[in-house]
Amino acid sequence: MVVSKKTELKEGDVLLKLEDVHMFFGKVCALSGVNLEIRKGEIHSVIGPNGAGKTVMMNIINGLYRPQRGEVFYKGEKINHLKPYKRSELGISRTFQKVEVFGGLSVLDNIRLGRHIHYRSGIFSGSCYLGKTKKEEIEHRKFIEEEIIDLLEIEHIRHKPTGMLPYGLQKRVELGRALAMEPELLILDEPLAGLNLEEVEDMARFILDINEEERWKVTCLLVEHDMGVVMDLSDRVLVLNFGNTITDDTPEAVQKNQDVVNAYLGEEDLYSTRR
Ligand SMILES: Nc1ncnc2c1ncn2[C@@H]1O[C@H](COP(=O)(O)OP(=O)(O)O)[C@@H](O)[C@H]1O
Ligand SMILES: [Mg+2]
Repeated sequence: MVVSKKTELKEGDVLLKLEDVHMFFGKVCALSGVNLEIRKGEIHSVIGPNGAGKTVMMNIINGLYRPQRGEVFYKGEKINHLKPYKRSELGISRTFQKVEVFGGLSVLDNIRLGRHIHYRSGIFSGSCYLGKTKKEEIEHRKFIEEEIIDLLEIEHIRHKPTGMLPYGLQKRVELGRALAMEPELLILDEPLAGLNLEEVEDMARFILDINEEERWKVTCLLVEHDMGVVMDLSDRVLVLNFGNTITDDTPEAVQKNQDVVNAYLGEEDLYSTRR
């Protein structure tokens, strides 16, 4: 069976799975036998001190890195060999730890590009219609753009050059661009980093909406340092330390786990960390 975006899974089925994943950079072992199961419909978070291997894990899931050992499955099919653009066609989309927008382009054009880069061969090529006519695709695209602008409350800045916007709004635009691909799995690498308190609250609300609202229902993999938000939003939390899994459990269980508390010793209070 060939893995396809059209393969339907029920809520609670395993959407993405990592099995015994190892990743080395020279002598540095960034991931050492990591396992993960992300279920359709959930917000699954990954936490861990700096250098724990979180971003490497995200890069393995979206195909930027290939693990030396271990398997990546999407909807039950191995996707180790697939390049990032193929994975994004399957429904895996992401935002980056360092904001990546096209500063010279307007907010709307950045969001449009999200859909465009979904299709390697260009927006007007045959492959992008997914059974739709060209006219239908164009209407559908416009509809999605408006939905995203509505959801993220960026109507007032839609024509502004993105590079002129405050950092918090740029992060919102980046999220909009990832959503334009209509992903099934959205990887968010530190979406709250560098945001002020009000922006954090807004962004946390958007993530929840994207996950819960009937229109979106996007499964999320969230890498975040803000423990308050992680514990509030997540269905499950994977804790990494030096490339090893400490635990993968509900937020309640993770907060009580002594190994987790120990891994964070020397850092700020686990539940008030904000960077
Ligand atoms: N491209 C790379 N080349 C060499 N080492 C890397 C590379 N990417 C990550 N690493 C190393 O892998 C480890 C995990 O990094 P990373 O996943 O970025 O941590 P974090 O949990 O903070 O996101 C670190 O020791 C880092 O230096
Ligand atoms: Mg990182």
